[in-house]
Amino acid sequence: MVDDRLDVYDLIPKVELHCHVEGTVRPGTVVELARKAGRPLPVDDPSLLYRYDSLDSFLAVFWLVQETLVSRDDWARIAYESVVDGAAHGLRYREMFFTPARHLAAGQDLGDIVAGLTEGIEAAEAETAARCMLIAGIDKAYGGGAGLALVERLGELRRSGRAERVIGIGADSTELGVDMRQFQPAYAAARDLGLRRTCHAGEAVGVGPENIRLAIDVLGAQRIDHGVAIVEDPTLVARCASERIPLTVCPTSNVVIANRYRSLAEHPLVAMRDAGLLLTINTDDPAMMDLDLGREYRAVAEGCGVTAAWLANLAIDGIESTWLDAADRATLRAEFTAMTEGIVGDDA
Ligand code: ADE
Ligand code: ZN
Repeated sequence: MVDDRLDVYDLIPKVELHCHVEGTVRPGTVVELARKAGRPLPVDDPSLLYRYDSLDSFLAVFWLVQETLVSRDDWARIAYESVVDGAAHGLRYREMFFTPARHLAAGQDLGDIVAGLTEGIEAAEAETAARCMLIAGIDKAYGGGAGLALVERLGELRRSGRAERVIGIGADSTELGVDMRQFQPAYAAARDLGLRRTCHAGEAVGVGPENIRLAIDVLGAQRIDHGVAIVEDPTLVARCASERIPLTVCPTSNVVIANRYRSLAEHPLVAMRDAGLLLTINTDDPAMMDLDLGREYRAVAEGCGVTAAWLANLAIDGIESTWLDAADRATLRAEFTAMTEGIVGDDA
Protein backbone atom coordinates (compact mmCIF):
# COMPACT_ATOMS: atom_id res chain seq x y z
CA MET A 1 0.00 0.00 0.00
CA VAL A 2 1.27 3.47 -0.80
CA ASP A 3 2.14 5.73 2.12
CA ASP A 4 -0.51 8.53 2.19
CA ARG A 5 2.12 11.07 3.20
CA LEU A 6 3.76 10.71 -0.21
CA ASP A 7 2.44 12.78 -3.07
CA VAL A 8 0.83 10.65 -5.79
CA TYR A 9 2.17 13.03 -8.46
CA ASP A 10 5.71 12.52 -7.20
CA LEU A 11 5.22 8.76 -7.06
CA ILE A 12 4.07 8.31 -10.66
CA PRO A 13 7.17 6.99 -12.51
CA LYS A 14 8.12 9.37 -15.32
CA VAL A 15 10.27 9.91 -18.36
CA GLU A 16 11.29 13.48 -19.11
CA LEU A 17 12.49 14.33 -22.61
CA HIS A 18 12.47 18.11 -22.48
CA CYS A 19 14.52 19.66 -19.73
CA HIS A 20 17.47 22.05 -20.05
CA VAL A 21 20.17 21.36 -17.48
CA GLU A 22 20.89 25.09 -17.21
CA GLY A 23 17.23 25.66 -16.35
CA THR A 24 17.43 23.20 -13.45
CA VAL A 25 20.19 24.94 -11.48
CA ARG A 26 19.13 25.45 -7.85
CA PRO A 27 18.92 29.17 -6.96
CA GLY A 28 21.56 28.72 -4.23
CA THR A 29 23.90 27.09 -6.74
CA VAL A 30 23.39 29.96 -9.21
CA VAL A 31 24.48 32.42 -6.52
CA GLU A 32 27.57 30.40 -5.63
CA LEU A 33 28.59 29.80 -9.25
CA ALA A 34 28.05 33.46 -10.14
CA ARG A 35 30.31 34.56 -7.28
CA LYS A 36 32.96 31.99 -8.16
CA ALA A 37 32.88 33.02 -11.83
CA GLY A 38 33.31 36.68 -10.86
CA ARG A 39 29.93 37.46 -12.45
CA PRO A 40 27.82 38.65 -9.52
CA LEU A 41 24.10 38.72 -10.21
CA PRO A 42 22.21 42.04 -10.16
CA VAL A 43 20.18 40.70 -7.15
CA ASP A 44 20.97 38.55 -4.08
CA ASP A 45 18.18 36.07 -4.77
CA PRO A 46 18.15 34.84 -8.40
CA SER A 47 14.48 33.90 -8.21
CA LEU A 48 13.75 37.64 -8.23
CA LEU A 49 14.95 37.56 -11.85
CA TYR A 50 12.56 34.77 -12.75
CA ARG A 51 9.64 36.81 -14.12
CA TYR A 52 8.98 36.73 -17.82
CA ASP A 53 6.53 38.19 -20.27
CA SER A 54 7.79 36.33 -23.35
CA LEU A 55 10.18 33.61 -24.49
CA ASP A 56 12.80 36.20 -25.39
CA SER A 57 12.62 37.95 -21.99
CA PHE A 58 13.05 34.52 -20.37
CA LEU A 59 16.06 33.77 -22.56
CA ALA A 60 17.85 36.92 -21.36
CA VAL A 61 17.74 35.46 -17.82
CA PHE A 62 18.57 31.93 -19.01
CA TRP A 63 21.69 33.29 -20.71
CA LEU A 64 22.74 35.02 -17.47
CA VAL A 65 22.55 31.68 -15.65
CA GLN A 66 24.44 29.97 -18.49
CA GLU A 67 27.27 32.47 -18.10
CA THR A 68 27.92 31.29 -14.55
CA LEU A 69 29.09 27.90 -15.90
CA VAL A 70 32.80 28.29 -16.52
CA SER A 71 34.50 25.00 -15.62
CA ARG A 72 34.10 21.25 -16.02
CA ASP A 73 33.31 21.03 -12.29
CA ASP A 74 30.45 23.51 -12.68
CA TRP A 75 28.87 21.32 -15.36
CA ALA A 76 29.37 18.23 -13.17
CA ARG A 77 27.74 19.93 -10.19
CA ILE A 78 24.65 21.13 -12.02
CA ALA A 79 24.13 17.77 -13.76
CA TYR A 80 24.42 15.92 -10.45
CA GLU A 81 22.01 18.22 -8.64
CA SER A 82 19.61 18.21 -11.57
CA VAL A 83 19.23 14.42 -11.74
CA VAL A 84 19.07 14.01 -7.96
CA ASP A 85 16.36 16.69 -7.79
CA GLY A 86 14.41 15.05 -10.63
CA ALA A 87 14.61 11.61 -9.00
CA ALA A 88 12.99 13.01 -5.84
CA HIS A 89 9.87 13.68 -7.94
CA GLY A 90 9.55 10.39 -9.78
CA LEU A 91 12.03 10.86 -12.63
CA ARG A 92 13.20 7.46 -13.91
CA TYR A 93 14.63 8.33 -17.30
CA ARG A 94 15.59 11.69 -18.83
CA GLU A 95 17.07 12.88 -22.12
CA MET A 96 18.45 16.28 -21.07
CA PHE A 97 19.50 19.30 -23.13
CA PHE A 98 22.68 21.27 -22.68
CA THR A 99 23.22 24.24 -25.00
CA PRO A 100 26.90 25.18 -25.09
CA ALA A 101 27.08 27.87 -27.83
CA ARG A 102 28.06 30.77 -25.58
CA HIS A 103 30.50 28.62 -23.62
CA LEU A 104 32.21 27.43 -26.80
CA ALA A 105 32.31 31.02 -28.09
CA ALA A 106 34.01 31.98 -24.80
CA GLY A 107 36.69 29.31 -25.31
CA GLN A 108 35.39 26.32 -23.32
CA ASP A 109 36.02 22.91 -24.83
CA LEU A 110 33.05 20.72 -25.73
CA GLY A 111 35.00 17.69 -24.47
CA ASP A 112 35.31 19.25 -20.99
CA ILE A 113 31.64 20.22 -20.92
CA VAL A 114 30.50 16.72 -21.89
CA ALA A 115 32.97 15.12 -19.46
CA GLY A 116 31.68 17.30 -16.61
CA LEU A 117 28.04 16.58 -17.38
CA THR A 118 28.77 12.86 -17.68
CA GLU A 119 30.60 12.79 -14.35
CA GLY A 120 27.71 14.53 -12.58
CA ILE A 121 25.11 12.25 -14.15
CA GLU A 122 27.07 9.13 -13.22
CA ALA A 123 27.32 10.28 -9.59
CA ALA A 124 23.55 10.93 -9.49
CA GLU A 125 22.73 7.61 -11.15
CA ALA A 126 24.78 5.81 -8.50
CA GLU A 127 22.56 7.32 -5.78
CA THR A 128 19.11 7.23 -7.41
CA ALA A 129 16.83 5.13 -9.62
CA ALA A 130 17.04 7.76 -12.38
CA ARG A 131 19.02 7.41 -15.59
CA CYS A 132 19.93 10.27 -17.89
CA MET A 133 21.29 10.75 -21.40
CA LEU A 134 22.22 14.03 -23.10
CA ILE A 135 21.03 16.04 -26.08
CA ALA A 136 23.35 18.73 -27.46
CA GLY A 137 21.25 21.81 -28.17
CA ILE A 138 22.04 24.11 -31.06
CA ASP A 139 21.40 27.69 -29.91
CA LYS A 140 19.38 29.11 -32.81
CA ALA A 141 20.53 32.64 -31.90
CA TYR A 142 24.09 31.68 -32.95
CA GLY A 143 23.04 30.60 -36.45
CA GLY A 144 23.50 27.60 -38.72
CA GLY A 145 27.31 27.76 -38.98
CA ALA A 146 27.78 27.47 -35.21
CA GLY A 147 25.24 24.63 -35.21
CA LEU A 148 27.20 22.68 -37.81
CA ALA A 149 30.49 23.31 -35.95
CA LEU A 150 28.90 21.94 -32.76
CA VAL A 151 27.79 18.75 -34.51
CA GLU A 152 31.19 18.28 -36.17
CA ARG A 153 33.00 18.64 -32.84
CA LEU A 154 30.54 16.20 -31.30
CA GLY A 155 31.44 13.77 -34.09
CA GLU A 156 35.15 14.04 -33.22
CA LEU A 157 34.41 13.39 -29.56
CA ARG A 158 32.22 10.41 -30.38
CA ARG A 159 34.88 8.90 -32.60
CA SER A 160 37.30 9.02 -29.66
CA GLY A 161 34.69 7.57 -27.26
CA ARG A 162 34.33 10.82 -25.31
CA ALA A 163 30.65 11.61 -25.88
CA GLU A 164 28.77 8.37 -25.38
CA ARG A 165 26.11 10.01 -23.22
CA VAL A 166 25.21 12.40 -26.02
CA ILE A 167 22.65 10.52 -28.07
CA GLY A 168 21.07 13.31 -30.05
CA ILE A 169 20.87 16.94 -31.02
CA GLY A 170 18.18 19.57 -30.68
CA ALA A 171 17.78 23.26 -31.47
CA ASP A 172 16.46 25.69 -28.88
CA SER A 173 16.57 29.34 -27.82
CA THR A 174 14.80 32.05 -29.75
CA GLU A 175 12.17 31.26 -32.40
CA LEU A 176 10.96 34.62 -33.65
CA GLY A 177 12.63 35.79 -36.86
CA VAL A 178 14.74 32.62 -37.16
CA ASP A 179 14.77 30.78 -40.51
CA MET A 180 14.90 27.10 -39.56
CA ARG A 181 16.33 26.11 -42.95
CA GLN A 182 19.79 27.38 -41.95
CA PHE A 183 20.15 24.39 -39.58
CA GLN A 184 19.70 21.79 -42.33
CA PRO A 185 23.47 21.10 -42.73
CA ALA A 186 23.84 20.59 -38.96
CA TYR A 187 20.88 18.18 -38.86
CA ALA A 188 22.16 16.28 -41.91
CA ALA A 189 25.59 15.93 -40.28
CA ALA A 190 23.96 14.68 -37.07
CA ARG A 191 21.98 12.09 -39.03
CA ASP A 192 25.18 10.92 -40.74
CA LEU A 193 26.79 10.49 -37.31
CA GLY A 194 23.92 8.27 -36.18
CA LEU A 195 22.61 10.89 -33.72
CA ARG A 196 18.89 11.28 -33.05
CA ARG A 197 17.25 14.62 -33.85
CA THR A 198 14.69 16.75 -32.08
CA CYS A 199 13.85 20.45 -32.44
CA HIS A 200 12.06 23.23 -30.53
CA ALA A 201 9.27 24.49 -32.80
CA GLY A 202 5.84 26.05 -32.48
CA GLU A 203 6.41 27.48 -28.99
CA ALA A 204 6.68 31.29 -29.13
CA VAL A 205 3.71 33.62 -29.33
CA GLY A 206 3.32 34.70 -32.94
CA VAL A 207 4.60 31.40 -34.38
CA GLY A 208 2.22 29.00 -36.07
CA PRO A 209 2.71 25.41 -37.20
CA GLU A 210 5.11 26.27 -40.07
CA ASN A 211 8.25 25.73 -37.95
CA ILE A 212 6.98 22.28 -36.97
CA ARG A 213 6.57 21.37 -40.64
CA LEU A 214 10.06 22.72 -41.43
CA ALA A 215 11.59 20.83 -38.50
CA ILE A 216 10.13 17.56 -39.76
CA ASP A 217 10.43 18.00 -43.53
CA VAL A 218 13.61 20.08 -43.90
CA LEU A 219 15.60 19.20 -40.77
CA GLY A 220 14.45 15.60 -40.46
CA ALA A 221 13.50 16.04 -36.80
CA GLN A 222 12.21 12.81 -35.27
CA ARG A 223 10.63 14.55 -32.30
CA ILE A 224 9.26 18.06 -31.71
CA ASP A 225 9.85 20.07 -28.54
CA HIS A 226 6.77 22.05 -27.44
CA GLY A 227 4.97 21.97 -30.78
CA VAL A 228 1.74 23.35 -29.31
CA ALA A 229 1.09 25.41 -32.45
CA ILE A 230 0.29 22.08 -34.15
CA VAL A 231 -3.35 22.42 -33.08
CA GLU A 232 -3.73 25.14 -35.74
CA ASP A 233 -3.15 22.53 -38.48
CA PRO A 234 -5.40 19.45 -38.26
CA THR A 235 -3.64 17.81 -41.22
CA LEU A 236 -0.32 18.04 -39.42
CA VAL A 237 -1.90 16.70 -36.24
CA ALA A 238 -3.20 13.67 -38.15
CA ARG A 239 0.18 13.14 -39.79
CA CYS A 240 2.19 13.33 -36.53
CA ALA A 241 -0.32 11.02 -34.85
CA SER A 242 -0.14 8.41 -37.60
CA GLU A 243 3.66 8.64 -38.01
CA ARG A 244 4.10 8.52 -34.21
CA ILE A 245 6.21 11.69 -34.16
CA PRO A 246 6.34 12.59 -30.46
CA LEU A 247 5.86 16.06 -29.01
CA THR A 248 7.55 16.96 -25.73
CA VAL A 249 5.03 19.31 -24.16
CA CYS A 250 5.86 21.67 -21.27
CA PRO A 251 2.48 22.99 -20.10
CA THR A 252 3.58 25.27 -17.24
CA SER A 253 6.43 26.66 -19.32
CA ASN A 254 3.98 27.56 -22.08
CA VAL A 255 2.06 29.67 -19.55
CA VAL A 256 4.94 31.11 -17.48
CA ILE A 257 7.79 31.39 -20.04
CA ALA A 258 6.25 31.72 -23.49
CA ASN A 259 3.08 33.38 -22.15
CA ARG A 260 1.19 31.55 -24.89
CA TYR A 261 -1.76 30.71 -22.61
CA ARG A 262 -3.11 32.65 -19.65
CA SER A 263 -3.57 29.45 -17.62
CA LEU A 264 -3.35 25.67 -17.93
CA ALA A 265 -7.12 25.59 -18.41
CA GLU A 266 -6.48 27.07 -21.89
CA HIS A 267 -3.65 24.65 -22.73
CA PRO A 268 -4.40 22.19 -25.60
CA LEU A 269 -2.63 19.21 -23.94
CA VAL A 270 -5.78 17.14 -23.45
CA ALA A 271 -7.09 17.91 -26.95
CA MET A 272 -3.70 16.92 -28.38
CA ARG A 273 -3.78 13.56 -26.60
CA ASP A 274 -7.40 13.02 -27.59
CA ALA A 275 -6.33 13.59 -31.22
CA GLY A 276 -3.96 10.62 -30.92
CA LEU A 277 -0.66 12.51 -30.61
CA LEU A 278 2.19 10.85 -28.74
CA LEU A 279 3.05 13.23 -25.90
CA THR A 280 5.24 13.59 -22.86
CA ILE A 281 4.82 16.14 -20.04
CA ASN A 282 8.01 17.95 -19.13
CA THR A 283 9.33 20.81 -16.98
CA ASP A 284 11.60 22.59 -19.51
CA ASP A 285 13.36 24.88 -16.97
CA PRO A 286 11.91 23.92 -13.58
CA ALA A 287 14.26 25.88 -11.29
CA MET A 288 13.48 29.06 -13.21
CA MET A 289 9.74 28.65 -12.59
CA ASP A 290 9.76 27.32 -8.99
CA LEU A 291 8.64 23.96 -10.39
CA ASP A 292 9.46 20.26 -10.28
CA LEU A 293 8.20 17.24 -12.18
CA GLY A 294 5.72 16.19 -9.48
CA ARG A 295 4.29 19.70 -9.29
CA GLU A 296 4.04 19.84 -13.08
CA TYR A 297 1.91 16.69 -13.05
CA ARG A 298 -0.23 18.07 -10.20
CA ALA A 299 -0.64 21.39 -12.02
CA VAL A 300 -1.83 19.56 -15.14
CA ALA A 301 -4.27 17.45 -13.10
CA GLU A 302 -5.76 20.53 -11.45
CA GLY A 303 -5.50 22.95 -14.38
CA CYS A 304 -6.50 20.64 -17.23
CA GLY A 305 -8.97 18.54 -15.23
CA VAL A 306 -7.40 15.09 -15.62
CA THR A 307 -6.87 12.31 -13.09
CA ALA A 308 -3.66 10.87 -11.68
CA ALA A 309 -4.47 7.67 -13.62
CA TRP A 310 -4.70 9.64 -16.90
CA LEU A 311 -1.28 11.11 -16.16
CA ALA A 312 0.22 7.75 -15.18
CA ASN A 313 -0.97 6.27 -18.48
CA LEU A 314 0.48 9.20 -20.40
CA ALA A 315 3.78 8.62 -18.57
CA ILE A 316 3.78 4.96 -19.61
CA ASP A 317 2.96 5.85 -23.22
CA GLY A 318 5.80 8.41 -23.12
CA ILE A 319 8.33 5.58 -23.03
CA GLU A 320 7.65 5.14 -26.75
CA SER A 321 8.91 8.72 -27.30
CA THR A 322 12.35 8.00 -25.82
CA TRP A 323 15.44 7.10 -27.79
CA LEU A 324 15.97 3.96 -25.73
CA ASP A 325 16.29 0.70 -27.64
CA ALA A 326 13.42 -1.78 -27.75
CA ALA A 327 14.71 -3.93 -24.88
CA ASP A 328 15.22 -0.96 -22.53
CA ARG A 329 11.80 0.42 -23.42
CA ALA A 330 10.17 -2.91 -22.63
CA THR A 331 11.94 -3.09 -19.26
CA LEU A 332 10.92 0.46 -18.37
CA ARG A 333 7.34 -0.18 -19.48
CA ALA A 334 7.08 -3.28 -17.27
CA GLU A 335 8.50 -1.32 -14.31
CA PHE A 336 6.20 1.65 -14.85
CA THR A 337 3.13 -0.56 -15.25
CA ALA A 338 3.83 -2.46 -12.04
CA MET A 339 4.56 0.73 -10.09
CA THR A 340 1.50 2.49 -11.47
CA GLU A 341 -0.86 -0.25 -10.32
CA GLY A 342 0.42 0.28 -6.78
CA ILE A 343 -0.13 4.03 -7.01
CA VAL A 344 -3.40 4.63 -8.87
CA GLY A 345 -4.77 1.06 -8.57
CA ASP A 346 -7.58 -0.09 -10.86
CA ASP A 347 -8.05 3.39 -12.34
CA ALA A 348 -4.88 2.85 -14.44
N1 ADE B 1 16.02 27.23 -23.64
C1 ADE B 1 15.63 26.98 -22.39
N2 ADE B 1 14.30 26.95 -22.31
C2 ADE B 1 13.82 27.17 -23.56
C3 ADE B 1 12.54 27.26 -24.12
N3 ADE B 1 11.43 27.12 -23.40
N4 ADE B 1 12.43 27.51 -25.44
C4 ADE B 1 13.52 27.69 -26.17
N5 ADE B 1 14.76 27.62 -25.70
C5 ADE B 1 14.91 27.36 -24.39
ZN1 ZN C 1 12.94 23.88 -24.03
